[in-house]
Amino acid sequence: MRAPCCCRPRSGLPFPPFLIFFSSLLVRARPGWALQNVTSQLFGNQAYGTLAAFGDFNSDKQTDLFVLRGDGELNIFLADQKEPYFKPKVKLLLTNVVITSVVPGDYDGDSQMDVLLTTRPQKQPNADLSVLIFWGNNQTLDVNRKFVLNKTFHDEPLIMDFNGDLIPDVFGATSDSDKPQVLLGRNLSWHIALDTQKKLYTPHSHAFIDLNNDFTADLFLTTLAPPNEIQFEIWVNQDGNFSKATHMKRKPKDVKVVGQSVFADFDGDGQTEHLLPACADSACQKSVIYLSKPGLDSWFPVLQNFTYKGTLWGFVPYDSAQTNFSFPITLHIGDYNMDGYPDALAILKNTSGSNQQAFLLENVECNEASCAGARRMFKVYWELSDLNQIKDAVVATFFDIYEDGILDIIVLSKDSTKTELAIHTLKNNFEADAYFVKVIVLSGLCSNDCPRKITPFGVNQPGPYIMYTTVDANGYLKNGSGKTYFC
Ligand SMILES: *[C@@H]1O[C@H](CO)[C@@H](O)[C@H](O)[C@H]1NC(C)=O
Ligand SMILES: *[C@@H]1O[C@H](CO)[C@@H](O)[C@H](O)[C@H]1NC(C)=O
Ligand SMILES: *[C@@H]1O[C@H](CO)[C@@H](O)[C@H](O)[C@H]1NC(C)=O
Ligand SMILES: *[C@@H]1O[C@H](CO)[C@@H](O)[C@H](O)[C@H]1NC(C)=O
Ligand SMILES: *[C@@H]1O[C@H](CO)[C@@H](O)[C@H](O)[C@H]1NC(C)=O
Ligand SMILES: *[C@@H]1O[C@H](CO)[C@@H](O)[C@H](O)[C@H]1NC(C)=O
Ligand SMILES: *[C@@H]1O[C@H](CO)[C@@H](O)[C@H](O)[C@H]1NC(C)=O
Ligand SMILES: *[C@@H]1O[C@H](CO)[C@@H](O)[C@H](O)[C@H]1NC(C)=O
Ligand SMILES: *[C@@H]1O[C@H](CO)[C@@H](O)[C@H](O)[C@H]1NC(C)=O
Repeated sequence: MRAPCCCRPRSGLPFPPFLIFFSSLLVRARPGWALQNVTSQLFGNQAYGTLAAFGDFNSDKQTDLFVLRGDGELNIFLADQKEPYFKPKVKLLLTNVVITSVVPGDYDGDSQMDVLLTTRPQKQPNADLSVLIFWGNNQTLDVNRKFVLNKTFHDEPLIMDFNGDLIPDVFGATSDSDKPQVLLGRNLSWHIALDTQKKLYTPHSHAFIDLNNDFTADLFLTTLAPPNEIQFEIWVNQDGNFSKATHMKRKPKDVKVVGQSVFADFDGDGQTEHLLPACADSACQKSVIYLSKPGLDSWFPVLQNFTYKGTLWGFVPYDSAQTNFSFPITLHIGDYNMDGYPDALAILKNTSGSNQQAFLLENVECNEASCAGARRMFKVYWELSDLNQIKDAVVATFFDIYEDGILDIIVLSKDSTKTELAIHTLKNNFEADAYFVKVIVLSGLCSNDCPRKITPFGVNQPGPYIMYTTVDANGYLKNGSGKTYFC
Protein backbone atom coordinates (compact mmCIF):
# COMPACT_ATOMS: atom_id res chain seq x y z
CA MET A 1 0.00 0.00 0.00
CA ARG A 2 1.37 3.39 -0.85
CA ALA A 3 0.39 6.95 -1.23
CA PRO A 4 -1.74 7.97 -4.14
CA CYS A 5 -2.14 11.57 -5.08
CA CYS A 6 -3.55 13.74 -2.49
CA CYS A 7 -4.41 10.86 -0.41
CA ARG A 8 -4.87 11.40 3.20
CA PRO A 9 -3.09 9.14 5.50
CA ARG A 10 -0.19 8.78 3.23
CA SER A 11 0.65 12.41 3.40
CA GLY A 12 0.24 14.26 0.17
CA LEU A 13 -1.76 17.18 -0.94
CA PRO A 14 -5.49 17.07 -0.88
CA PHE A 15 -5.44 19.98 -3.27
CA PRO A 16 -3.12 20.46 -6.13
CA PRO A 17 0.06 22.24 -5.20
CA PHE A 18 -0.62 25.77 -4.29
CA LEU A 19 -3.74 27.33 -3.11
CA ILE A 20 -6.10 27.40 -6.01
CA PHE A 21 -9.70 28.27 -5.60
CA PHE A 22 -12.55 29.44 -7.63
CA SER A 23 -15.61 31.49 -7.17
CA SER A 24 -18.30 32.32 -9.57
CA LEU A 25 -20.92 34.77 -10.60
CA LEU A 26 -23.12 33.50 -13.39
CA VAL A 27 -22.77 29.82 -13.89
CA ARG A 28 -24.41 28.05 -16.74
CA ALA A 29 -23.56 24.48 -17.60
CA ARG A 30 -23.54 23.74 -21.29
CA PRO A 31 -25.99 21.00 -22.25
CA GLY A 32 -24.14 17.82 -23.07
CA TRP A 33 -21.43 18.57 -20.57
CA ALA A 34 -19.09 15.64 -20.42
CA LEU A 35 -15.71 14.42 -19.46
CA GLN A 36 -13.18 13.74 -22.18
CA ASN A 37 -10.36 11.21 -22.02
CA VAL A 38 -7.10 13.12 -22.57
CA THR A 39 -4.75 10.51 -21.12
CA SER A 40 -2.61 10.01 -24.19
CA GLN A 41 -2.20 13.76 -24.88
CA LEU A 42 -0.93 14.16 -21.34
CA PHE A 43 1.18 11.06 -20.82
CA GLY A 44 1.73 9.38 -24.18
CA ASN A 45 2.59 5.79 -23.38
CA GLN A 46 3.76 6.64 -19.84
CA ALA A 47 0.35 6.62 -18.13
CA TYR A 48 1.15 4.18 -15.37
CA GLY A 49 2.39 4.25 -11.80
CA THR A 50 1.06 5.75 -8.58
CA LEU A 51 0.60 9.48 -8.94
CA ALA A 52 1.68 10.49 -5.47
CA ALA A 53 2.03 14.28 -5.33
CA PHE A 54 1.91 17.56 -7.20
CA GLY A 55 4.40 20.43 -7.10
CA ASP A 56 6.37 22.82 -9.24
CA PHE A 57 9.74 21.08 -9.11
CA ASN A 58 11.61 23.17 -11.67
CA SER A 59 10.18 26.60 -10.79
CA ASP A 60 8.63 27.19 -14.22
CA LYS A 61 5.24 28.07 -12.68
CA GLN A 62 3.72 24.86 -14.02
CA THR A 63 2.71 22.00 -11.81
CA ASP A 64 4.75 18.83 -12.16
CA LEU A 65 3.67 15.34 -11.17
CA PHE A 66 5.41 12.92 -8.81
CA VAL A 67 4.85 9.30 -9.84
CA LEU A 68 6.01 6.15 -8.02
CA ARG A 69 6.80 2.98 -9.93
CA GLY A 70 8.11 -0.40 -8.89
CA ASP A 71 9.17 -0.50 -5.25
CA GLY A 72 11.70 2.27 -5.06
CA GLU A 73 11.41 4.46 -8.14
CA LEU A 74 10.30 8.09 -8.09
CA ASN A 75 9.72 9.79 -11.44
CA ILE A 76 9.02 13.49 -11.68
CA PHE A 77 6.96 14.28 -14.77
CA LEU A 78 7.79 17.85 -15.74
CA ALA A 79 5.10 19.90 -17.45
CA ASP A 80 5.95 20.69 -21.06
CA GLN A 81 4.44 22.88 -23.79
CA LYS A 82 4.38 20.05 -26.31
CA GLU A 83 2.49 16.76 -26.27
CA PRO A 84 2.69 14.69 -24.23
CA TYR A 85 2.28 17.51 -21.75
CA PHE A 86 3.97 15.62 -18.91
CA LYS A 87 7.28 13.88 -19.47
CA PRO A 88 9.29 11.83 -16.97
CA LYS A 89 12.49 13.86 -16.70
CA VAL A 90 13.83 13.44 -13.18
CA LYS A 91 14.31 10.01 -11.66
CA LEU A 92 15.42 8.79 -8.26
CA LEU A 93 15.96 5.10 -7.57
CA LEU A 94 16.18 3.60 -4.09
CA THR A 95 17.09 -0.05 -3.55
CA ASN A 96 15.76 -2.59 -1.02
CA VAL A 97 12.93 -0.33 0.11
CA VAL A 98 9.36 0.48 -0.85
CA ILE A 99 8.59 4.18 -1.20
CA THR A 100 5.24 4.74 0.55
CA SER A 101 4.75 8.48 0.09
CA VAL A 102 6.18 11.64 -1.41
CA VAL A 103 5.83 15.16 0.01
CA PRO A 104 7.53 17.92 -1.95
CA GLY A 105 8.40 21.04 0.02
CA ASP A 106 11.22 23.38 0.91
CA TYR A 107 12.60 21.71 4.05
CA ASP A 108 15.76 23.80 4.41
CA GLY A 109 14.44 27.21 3.44
CA ASP A 110 16.57 27.77 0.35
CA SER A 111 13.43 28.19 -1.80
CA GLN A 112 14.31 25.13 -3.88
CA MET A 113 11.86 22.29 -3.79
CA ASP A 114 13.12 19.31 -1.83
CA VAL A 115 11.43 15.93 -1.80
CA LEU A 116 10.55 14.05 1.37
CA LEU A 117 10.05 10.32 0.93
CA THR A 118 8.81 7.77 3.43
CA THR A 119 10.00 4.22 2.96
CA ARG A 120 9.72 0.82 4.57
CA PRO A 121 11.79 -2.31 4.04
CA GLN A 122 10.64 -4.63 1.24
CA LYS A 123 8.27 -7.46 2.21
CA GLN A 124 7.49 -5.93 5.63
CA PRO A 125 4.14 -4.20 5.23
CA ASN A 126 3.86 -3.50 8.95
CA ALA A 127 7.33 -2.13 9.59
CA ASP A 128 7.81 1.42 10.87
CA LEU A 129 8.49 4.04 8.24
CA SER A 130 11.80 5.75 7.60
CA VAL A 131 11.85 9.33 6.38
CA LEU A 132 14.41 10.77 3.98
CA ILE A 133 14.65 14.28 2.59
CA PHE A 134 16.39 14.64 -0.77
CA TRP A 135 17.71 18.15 -1.27
CA GLY A 136 16.66 19.90 -4.43
CA ASN A 137 19.72 21.03 -6.33
CA ASN A 138 19.51 22.87 -9.62
CA GLN A 139 16.28 20.99 -10.42
CA THR A 140 17.70 17.54 -10.00
CA LEU A 141 17.73 15.03 -7.18
CA ASP A 142 20.86 13.18 -6.16
CA VAL A 143 20.55 9.92 -4.27
CA ASN A 144 23.55 10.94 -2.15
CA ARG A 145 22.41 14.45 -1.23
CA LYS A 146 19.93 13.64 1.47
CA PHE A 147 19.08 13.84 5.15
CA VAL A 148 17.90 10.67 6.86
CA LEU A 149 15.76 11.17 9.95
CA ASN A 150 17.16 9.14 12.82
CA LYS A 151 13.74 8.12 14.17
CA THR A 152 11.14 5.98 12.49
CA PHE A 153 7.39 6.66 12.40
CA HIS A 154 4.49 4.32 13.19
CA ASP A 155 2.46 5.89 10.40
CA GLU A 156 2.89 8.41 7.62
CA PRO A 157 4.00 11.66 9.25
CA LEU A 158 1.99 14.85 8.94
CA ILE A 159 3.85 17.63 7.15
CA MET A 160 2.96 20.94 8.76
CA ASP A 161 4.50 24.21 9.82
CA PHE A 162 4.71 23.55 13.54
CA ASN A 163 6.71 26.59 14.61
CA GLY A 164 5.36 29.10 12.10
CA ASP A 165 8.68 29.79 10.37
CA LEU A 166 7.25 28.99 6.91
CA ILE A 167 9.43 25.87 6.69
CA PRO A 168 7.57 22.56 6.74
CA ASP A 169 8.13 20.31 9.75
CA VAL A 170 7.60 16.56 10.13
CA PHE A 171 5.07 15.53 12.81
CA GLY A 172 3.98 12.13 14.06
CA ALA A 173 4.29 9.26 16.54
CA THR A 174 7.83 7.93 16.49
CA SER A 175 9.02 4.54 17.61
CA ASP A 176 10.92 5.89 20.65
CA SER A 177 8.29 8.01 22.40
CA ASP A 178 4.72 7.95 23.68
CA LYS A 179 4.22 11.57 22.74
CA PRO A 180 4.06 12.87 19.17
CA GLN A 181 7.39 14.28 18.00
CA VAL A 182 8.22 16.95 15.48
CA LEU A 183 11.37 17.37 13.43
CA LEU A 184 11.71 21.08 12.71
CA GLY A 185 12.68 21.92 9.14
CA ARG A 186 15.91 23.90 8.57
CA ASN A 187 17.23 23.18 12.14
CA LEU A 188 16.52 19.48 11.64
CA SER A 189 16.16 19.10 15.40
CA TRP A 190 13.65 16.89 17.24
CA HIS A 191 11.15 18.22 19.78
CA ILE A 192 8.22 16.83 21.71
CA ALA A 193 5.26 18.20 19.79
CA LEU A 194 2.25 17.90 22.06
CA ASP A 195 1.65 16.98 25.64
CA THR A 196 -0.77 14.14 25.15
CA GLN A 197 -0.80 10.48 26.11
CA LYS A 198 -3.44 9.57 23.60
CA LYS A 199 -2.64 7.27 20.76
CA LEU A 200 -2.88 8.69 17.28
CA TYR A 201 -5.28 6.73 15.10
CA THR A 202 -3.75 4.78 12.19
CA PRO A 203 -4.08 5.25 9.26
CA HIS A 204 -4.00 8.84 10.32
CA SER A 205 -6.35 11.51 9.13
CA HIS A 206 -4.83 14.46 10.89
CA ALA A 207 -4.80 17.84 9.23
CA PHE A 208 -3.06 21.18 9.56
CA ILE A 209 -5.79 23.66 8.75
CA ASP A 210 -7.39 26.81 10.12
CA LEU A 211 -10.61 25.75 11.81
CA ASN A 212 -11.50 28.89 13.76
CA ASN A 213 -11.05 31.45 10.95
CA ASP A 214 -8.20 33.37 12.54
CA PHE A 215 -5.98 32.79 9.50
CA THR A 216 -3.66 30.59 11.56
CA ALA A 217 -3.61 26.87 10.89
CA ASP A 218 -4.71 24.64 13.75
CA LEU A 219 -3.98 20.99 14.31
CA PHE A 220 -6.79 18.50 13.81
CA LEU A 221 -6.04 15.03 15.20
CA THR A 222 -7.83 11.71 15.09
CA THR A 223 -7.02 9.86 18.31
CA LEU A 224 -8.04 6.75 20.21
CA ALA A 225 -9.63 7.04 23.62
CA PRO A 226 -9.68 3.88 25.72
CA PRO A 227 -10.99 1.37 24.85
CA ASN A 228 -10.17 2.11 21.21
CA GLU A 229 -12.88 4.67 20.61
CA ILE A 230 -12.14 7.01 17.69
CA GLN A 231 -12.45 10.70 18.47
CA PHE A 232 -11.48 14.01 16.95
CA GLU A 233 -9.61 16.82 18.67
CA ILE A 234 -8.63 20.31 17.62
CA TRP A 235 -5.48 21.86 19.04
CA VAL A 236 -6.02 25.55 18.43
CA ASN A 237 -3.01 27.59 17.43
CA GLN A 238 -2.77 30.45 19.93
CA ASP A 239 0.05 32.85 19.21
CA GLY A 240 2.12 30.01 17.86
CA ASN A 241 1.39 27.42 20.55
CA PHE A 242 -1.04 24.57 20.03
CA SER A 243 -3.22 24.65 23.10
CA LYS A 244 -4.39 21.37 24.51
CA ALA A 245 -7.70 20.26 23.08
CA THR A 246 -10.39 20.66 25.70
CA HIS A 247 -13.26 19.27 23.69
CA MET A 248 -13.30 15.85 22.05
CA LYS A 249 -15.75 15.18 19.31
CA ARG A 250 -17.01 11.63 19.16
CA LYS A 251 -17.57 9.81 15.91
CA PRO A 252 -21.20 9.49 14.83
CA LYS A 253 -23.14 6.85 16.72
CA ASP A 254 -23.57 3.50 14.93
CA VAL A 255 -20.43 4.03 12.88
CA LYS A 256 -18.14 1.00 12.61
CA VAL A 257 -15.70 2.08 9.91
CA VAL A 258 -14.34 5.61 9.82
CA GLY A 259 -12.77 7.06 6.68
CA GLN A 260 -10.54 10.06 6.32
CA SER A 261 -11.77 13.40 7.59
CA VAL A 262 -11.81 16.21 5.04
CA PHE A 263 -12.59 19.89 5.44
CA ALA A 264 -14.49 22.25 3.20
CA ASP A 265 -16.87 25.18 3.35
CA PHE A 266 -19.78 22.94 2.42
CA ASP A 267 -22.62 25.47 2.57
CA GLY A 268 -20.70 28.53 1.42
CA ASP A 269 -20.96 30.53 4.64
CA GLY A 270 -17.22 31.04 5.04
CA GLN A 271 -16.93 28.52 7.90
CA THR A 272 -15.11 25.25 7.43
CA GLU A 273 -17.09 22.05 7.94
CA HIS A 274 -15.82 18.57 8.73
CA LEU A 275 -16.88 15.80 6.31
CA LEU A 276 -16.52 12.18 7.32
CA PRO A 277 -17.16 9.18 5.05
CA ALA A 278 -18.14 6.20 7.19
CA CYS A 279 -19.86 2.82 7.30
CA ALA A 280 -22.31 1.33 9.79
CA ASP A 281 -20.87 -2.18 9.29
CA SER A 282 -17.39 -3.54 8.75
CA ALA A 283 -18.10 -4.61 5.14
CA CYS A 284 -19.49 -1.15 4.24
CA GLN A 285 -22.85 -2.47 3.07
CA LYS A 286 -24.30 0.65 4.70
CA SER A 287 -22.25 3.70 3.81
CA VAL A 288 -22.90 7.30 4.86
CA ILE A 289 -21.17 10.67 4.50
CA TYR A 290 -21.55 12.80 7.62
CA LEU A 291 -20.99 16.49 8.15
CA SER A 292 -20.38 18.37 11.34
CA LYS A 293 -19.60 21.97 12.19
CA PRO A 294 -16.52 22.90 14.21
CA GLY A 295 -17.27 23.17 17.91
CA LEU A 296 -20.62 21.38 17.64
CA ASP A 297 -21.23 17.73 18.36
CA SER A 298 -24.02 16.84 15.97
CA TRP A 299 -23.44 14.92 12.78
CA PHE A 300 -25.76 15.27 9.77
CA PRO A 301 -25.85 12.71 6.98
CA VAL A 302 -25.28 14.49 3.66
CA LEU A 303 -25.40 11.29 1.61
CA GLN A 304 -26.94 8.01 2.66
CA ASN A 305 -28.74 6.61 -0.37
CA PHE A 306 -26.18 4.51 -2.23
CA THR A 307 -28.71 2.45 -4.24
CA TYR A 308 -29.02 2.92 -7.98
CA LYS A 309 -31.02 0.73 -10.36
CA GLY A 310 -31.06 -2.19 -7.95
CA THR A 311 -27.33 -2.13 -7.18
CA LEU A 312 -26.20 -1.20 -3.67
CA TRP A 313 -22.88 0.64 -3.71
CA GLY A 314 -20.61 1.28 -0.74
CA PHE A 315 -17.19 2.53 0.29
CA VAL A 316 -14.26 0.15 -0.04
CA PRO A 317 -13.04 -0.80 3.45
CA TYR A 318 -9.31 -0.34 3.96
CA ASP A 319 -7.29 -3.47 4.51
CA SER A 320 -3.83 -2.67 5.82
CA ALA A 321 -2.72 -6.29 5.40
CA GLN A 322 -3.48 -6.25 1.70
CA THR A 323 -0.51 -4.72 -0.03
CA ASN A 324 -2.15 -4.58 -3.47
CA PHE A 325 -3.46 -1.06 -3.60
CA SER A 326 -5.87 -0.81 -0.70
CA PHE A 327 -6.45 2.81 0.25
CA PRO A 328 -8.30 4.35 3.20
CA ILE A 329 -11.81 5.64 2.50
CA THR A 330 -11.30 9.16 1.20
CA LEU A 331 -13.29 11.97 -0.38
CA HIS A 332 -11.46 14.34 -2.68
CA ILE A 333 -12.98 17.80 -2.70
CA GLY A 334 -13.19 20.33 -5.52
CA ASP A 335 -15.73 22.65 -7.14
CA TYR A 336 -16.05 21.00 -10.56
CA ASN A 337 -19.07 23.09 -11.70
CA MET A 338 -17.89 26.43 -10.31
CA ASP A 339 -21.05 27.15 -8.38
CA GLY A 340 -19.08 28.08 -5.28
CA TYR A 341 -19.98 24.87 -3.42
CA PRO A 342 -17.41 22.09 -3.03
CA ASP A 343 -18.20 18.81 -4.79
CA ALA A 344 -16.40 15.52 -4.20
CA LEU A 345 -15.04 12.39 -5.80
CA ALA A 346 -15.39 9.02 -4.09
CA ILE A 347 -14.53 5.41 -4.89
CA LEU A 348 -17.45 3.02 -4.38
CA LYS A 349 -17.76 -0.71 -4.94
CA ASN A 350 -20.71 -2.82 -5.99
CA THR A 351 -21.50 -4.51 -2.67
CA SER A 352 -22.73 -7.67 -4.41
CA GLY A 353 -20.16 -7.75 -7.18
CA SER A 354 -16.49 -6.95 -7.42
CA ASN A 355 -16.30 -3.83 -9.56
CA GLN A 356 -15.37 -0.51 -8.06
CA GLN A 357 -15.66 2.89 -9.71
CA ALA A 358 -15.07 6.56 -9.17
CA PHE A 359 -18.21 8.69 -8.74
CA LEU A 360 -18.73 12.43 -8.83
CA LEU A 361 -20.79 13.74 -5.91
CA GLU A 362 -22.41 17.09 -6.59
CA ASN A 363 -23.09 19.50 -3.76
CA VAL A 364 -26.79 20.45 -4.06
CA GLU A 365 -29.37 22.07 -1.85
CA CYS A 366 -30.66 19.73 0.86
CA ASN A 367 -34.13 18.38 0.11
CA GLU A 368 -34.39 15.78 2.87
CA ALA A 369 -35.19 16.21 6.54
CA SER A 370 -32.02 14.43 7.66
CA CYS A 371 -29.59 16.93 6.10
CA ALA A 372 -31.52 20.08 7.04
CA GLY A 373 -28.89 20.96 9.63
CA ALA A 374 -26.20 20.89 6.94
CA ARG A 375 -28.27 22.92 4.42
CA ARG A 376 -26.62 21.11 1.50
CA MET A 377 -26.17 17.48 0.50
CA PHE A 378 -24.47 15.31 -2.09
CA LYS A 379 -26.16 13.99 -5.22
CA VAL A 380 -24.35 11.14 -6.96
CA TYR A 381 -23.78 11.18 -10.73
CA TRP A 382 -24.33 7.47 -11.22
CA GLU A 383 -23.83 7.39 -14.98
CA LEU A 384 -21.14 9.89 -15.85
CA SER A 385 -19.70 8.88 -19.16
CA ASP A 386 -15.98 8.19 -19.27
CA LEU A 387 -15.76 8.17 -15.48
CA ASN A 388 -17.92 5.05 -15.34
CA GLN A 389 -15.84 3.34 -18.05
CA ILE A 390 -12.84 3.11 -15.76
CA LYS A 391 -13.03 -0.28 -14.06
CA ASP A 392 -11.41 -1.01 -10.70
CA ALA A 393 -10.69 2.60 -9.86
CA VAL A 394 -8.77 3.02 -6.61
CA VAL A 395 -8.21 6.79 -6.36
CA ALA A 396 -9.91 9.77 -7.99
CA THR A 397 -8.93 13.38 -7.49
CA PHE A 398 -9.53 16.81 -8.99
CA PHE A 399 -6.69 18.58 -10.72
CA ASP A 400 -6.64 21.63 -12.97
CA ILE A 401 -4.67 19.99 -15.77
CA TYR A 402 -4.81 22.90 -18.19
CA GLU A 403 -4.47 25.58 -15.48
CA ASP A 404 -7.58 27.31 -16.83
CA GLY A 405 -9.50 27.43 -13.58
CA ILE A 406 -11.65 24.39 -14.38
CA LEU A 407 -11.02 21.28 -12.37
CA ASP A 408 -10.34 18.12 -14.35
CA ILE A 409 -10.24 14.61 -12.93
CA ILE A 410 -7.40 12.13 -12.47
CA VAL A 411 -8.25 8.49 -11.73
CA LEU A 412 -5.90 5.64 -10.85
CA SER A 413 -7.13 2.13 -11.55
CA LYS A 414 -5.75 -1.34 -10.98
CA ASP A 415 -5.55 -4.20 -13.41
CA SER A 416 -4.92 -7.63 -11.93
CA THR A 417 -2.64 -8.55 -14.83
CA LYS A 418 -0.32 -5.59 -14.21
CA THR A 419 1.87 -4.57 -11.32
CA GLU A 420 1.39 -0.81 -11.78
CA LEU A 421 -1.73 1.32 -11.51
CA ALA A 422 -3.04 2.90 -14.71
CA ILE A 423 -3.36 6.71 -14.77
CA HIS A 424 -6.45 8.20 -16.47
CA THR A 425 -6.99 11.90 -17.02
CA LEU A 426 -10.42 13.28 -17.87
CA LYS A 427 -10.84 16.84 -19.07
CA ASN A 428 -13.80 18.72 -17.68
CA ASN A 429 -15.46 20.41 -20.66
CA PHE A 430 -17.57 22.55 -18.42
CA GLU A 431 -18.15 25.97 -19.90
CA ALA A 432 -19.42 28.64 -17.65
CA ASP A 433 -19.71 32.38 -17.52
CA ALA A 434 -17.68 32.49 -14.40
CA TYR A 435 -14.53 34.03 -13.18
CA PHE A 436 -11.94 32.37 -11.11
CA VAL A 437 -9.23 33.53 -8.83
CA LYS A 438 -6.05 31.57 -8.56
CA VAL A 439 -3.90 32.29 -5.59
CA ILE A 440 -0.38 30.99 -5.39
CA VAL A 441 1.11 31.04 -1.93
CA LEU A 442 4.83 31.63 -1.72
CA SER A 443 6.84 31.26 1.42
CA GLY A 444 8.28 34.73 0.94
CA LEU A 445 11.54 33.54 2.47
CA CYS A 446 13.39 35.14 -0.40
CA SER A 447 12.32 36.88 -3.57
CA ASN A 448 15.17 38.15 -5.71
CA ASP A 449 18.13 37.56 -3.46
CA CYS A 450 17.77 33.82 -2.97
CA PRO A 451 20.72 31.66 -2.10
CA ARG A 452 22.60 30.38 -5.14
CA LYS A 453 20.58 32.61 -7.49
CA ILE A 454 17.69 30.20 -7.78
CA THR A 455 14.26 31.24 -8.94
CA PRO A 456 11.80 30.88 -6.10
CA PHE A 457 8.32 30.01 -7.12
CA GLY A 458 5.49 28.39 -5.31
CA VAL A 459 7.08 25.67 -3.26
CA ASN A 460 4.25 23.76 -1.59
CA GLN A 461 3.31 25.48 1.64
CA PRO A 462 1.20 23.92 4.39
CA GLY A 463 -1.52 25.78 6.20
CA PRO A 464 -2.46 29.05 4.48
CA TYR A 465 -6.08 30.19 4.61
CA ILE A 466 -7.74 32.90 2.55
CA MET A 467 -11.22 34.32 2.81
CA TYR A 468 -12.99 36.53 0.33
CA THR A 469 -16.37 38.12 -0.18
CA THR A 470 -18.04 38.44 -3.56
CA VAL A 471 -21.26 39.93 -4.81
CA ASP A 472 -23.44 37.59 -6.83
CA ALA A 473 -25.55 38.46 -9.88
CA ASN A 474 -28.48 39.36 -7.63
CA GLY A 475 -26.40 41.72 -5.55
CA TYR A 476 -26.10 39.42 -2.54
CA LEU A 477 -22.85 39.08 -0.66
CA LYS A 478 -21.36 35.62 -0.51
CA ASN A 479 -18.40 34.56 1.59
CA GLY A 480 -15.93 32.05 0.30
CA SER A 481 -12.66 30.67 1.48
CA GLY A 482 -9.79 28.67 0.18
CA LYS A 483 -6.98 26.84 1.85
CA THR A 484 -4.32 24.31 1.30
CA TYR A 485 -3.75 21.83 3.97
CA PHE A 486 -1.39 18.98 4.24
CA CYS A 487 -2.57 15.73 5.57
C1 LIG B 1 22.10 23.73 -13.64
O1 LIG B 1 21.87 22.76 -14.64
C2 LIG B 1 21.95 23.29 -15.96
C3 LIG B 1 21.63 22.17 -16.95
O2 LIG B 1 20.91 21.17 -16.36
C4 LIG B 1 23.35 23.83 -16.23
O3 LIG B 1 23.38 24.39 -17.52
C5 LIG B 1 23.67 24.88 -15.19
O4 LIG B 1 25.00 25.30 -15.35
C6 LIG B 1 23.49 24.33 -13.78
N1 LIG B 1 23.70 25.40 -12.83
C7 LIG B 1 24.44 25.25 -11.75
C8 LIG B 1 24.56 26.46 -10.86
O5 LIG B 1 25.00 24.20 -11.46
C1 LIG C 1 17.37 26.82 15.10
O1 LIG C 1 18.72 27.16 14.75
C2 LIG C 1 19.02 28.50 14.98
C3 LIG C 1 20.43 28.79 14.49
O2 LIG C 1 21.11 27.64 14.17
C4 LIG C 1 18.88 28.83 16.47
O3 LIG C 1 19.12 30.19 16.69
C5 LIG C 1 17.47 28.49 16.91
O4 LIG C 1 17.35 28.67 18.30
C6 LIG C 1 17.11 27.08 16.56
N1 LIG C 1 15.72 26.87 16.88
C7 LIG C 1 15.29 25.80 17.50
C8 LIG C 1 13.82 25.73 17.75
O5 LIG C 1 16.02 24.91 17.85
C1 LIG D 1 19.43 12.39 15.85
O1 LIG D 1 19.65 13.52 15.05
C2 LIG D 1 19.72 14.73 15.79
C3 LIG D 1 19.87 15.85 14.81
O2 LIG D 1 18.84 15.78 13.87
C4 LIG D 1 20.92 14.68 16.76
O3 LIG D 1 20.94 15.87 17.52
C5 LIG D 1 20.76 13.47 17.65
O4 LIG D 1 21.91 13.33 18.45
C6 LIG D 1 20.58 12.21 16.82
N1 LIG D 1 20.32 11.11 17.71
C7 LIG D 1 20.93 9.93 17.59
C8 LIG D 1 20.53 8.88 18.57
O5 LIG D 1 21.77 9.74 16.74
C1 LIG E 1 4.17 29.43 24.00
O1 LIG E 1 4.94 28.39 24.61
C2 LIG E 1 6.24 28.82 25.01
C3 LIG E 1 7.01 27.61 25.50
O2 LIG E 1 6.22 26.76 26.26
C4 LIG E 1 6.09 29.89 26.09
O3 LIG E 1 7.38 30.35 26.47
C5 LIG E 1 5.29 31.05 25.50
O4 LIG E 1 5.05 32.02 26.51
C6 LIG E 1 3.94 30.57 24.97
N1 LIG E 1 3.29 31.65 24.30
C7 LIG E 1 2.00 31.95 24.52
C8 LIG E 1 1.47 33.13 23.78
O5 LIG E 1 1.30 31.29 25.26
C1 LIG F 1 -32.32 6.27 -3.69
O1 LIG F 1 -32.03 6.94 -4.92
C2 LIG F 1 -32.66 6.32 -6.03
C3 LIG F 1 -32.25 7.05 -7.31
O2 LIG F 1 -30.98 7.59 -7.21
C4 LIG F 1 -34.17 6.33 -5.88
O3 LIG F 1 -34.75 5.66 -6.96
C5 LIG F 1 -34.55 5.66 -4.57
O4 LIG F 1 -35.93 5.79 -4.35
C6 LIG F 1 -33.81 6.29 -3.40
N1 LIG F 1 -34.08 5.50 -2.19
C7 LIG F 1 -34.46 6.06 -1.05
C8 LIG F 1 -34.67 5.14 0.10
O5 LIG F 1 -34.60 7.25 -0.95
C1 LIG G 1 -1.77 -9.17 -5.08
O1 LIG G 1 -0.86 -9.18 -6.18
C2 LIG G 1 -0.25 -10.43 -6.41
C3 LIG G 1 0.73 -10.29 -7.57
O2 LIG G 1 0.91 -8.97 -7.93
C4 LIG G 1 -1.31 -11.49 -6.70
O3 LIG G 1 -0.68 -12.75 -6.85
C5 LIG G 1 -2.31 -11.54 -5.56
O4 LIG G 1 -3.36 -12.42 -5.89
C6 LIG G 1 -2.91 -10.16 -5.30
N1 LIG G 1 -3.78 -10.21 -4.13
C7 LIG G 1 -5.00 -9.70 -4.11
C8 LIG G 1 -5.74 -9.84 -2.84
O5 LIG G 1 -5.48 -9.12 -5.08
C1 LIG H 1 -23.29 -5.60 -9.20
O1 LIG H 1 -22.91 -6.95 -9.03
C2 LIG H 1 -23.98 -7.87 -9.27
C3 LIG H 1 -23.46 -9.27 -8.96
O2 LIG H 1 -22.27 -9.53 -9.67
C4 LIG H 1 -24.43 -7.75 -10.73
O3 LIG H 1 -25.51 -8.60 -10.97
C5 LIG H 1 -24.85 -6.30 -11.00
O4 LIG H 1 -25.17 -6.13 -12.37
C6 LIG H 1 -23.72 -5.36 -10.64
N1 LIG H 1 -24.18 -3.96 -10.81
C7 LIG H 1 -23.58 -3.11 -11.63
C8 LIG H 1 -24.19 -1.74 -11.74
O5 LIG H 1 -22.57 -3.39 -12.27
C1 LIG I 1 -8.36 6.75 -22.44
O1 LIG I 1 -7.41 6.77 -23.49
C2 LIG I 1 -6.34 5.85 -23.30
C3 LIG I 1 -5.32 6.10 -24.39
O2 LIG I 1 -5.94 6.26 -25.63
C4 LIG I 1 -6.89 4.44 -23.31
O3 LIG I 1 -5.84 3.51 -23.10
C5 LIG I 1 -7.90 4.31 -22.16
O4 LIG I 1 -8.48 3.04 -22.18
C6 LIG I 1 -8.97 5.36 -22.29
N1 LIG I 1 -9.79 5.31 -21.09
C7 LIG I 1 -11.12 5.32 -21.10
C8 LIG I 1 -11.78 5.30 -19.79
O5 LIG I 1 -11.74 5.35 -22.14
C1 LIG J 1 -19.24 36.98 5.71
O1 LIG J 1 -18.26 36.95 6.72
C2 LIG J 1 -18.27 38.13 7.54
C3 LIG J 1 -17.08 38.05 8.48
O2 LIG J 1 -16.93 36.79 9.04
C4 LIG J 1 -19.61 38.17 8.28
O3 LIG J 1 -19.66 39.35 9.08
C5 LIG J 1 -20.74 38.23 7.26
O4 LIG J 1 -21.98 38.17 7.92
C6 LIG J 1 -20.63 37.05 6.30
N1 LIG J 1 -21.60 37.25 5.24
C7 LIG J 1 -22.35 36.26 4.74
C8 LIG J 1 -23.27 36.61 3.62
O5 LIG J 1 -22.30 35.09 5.17
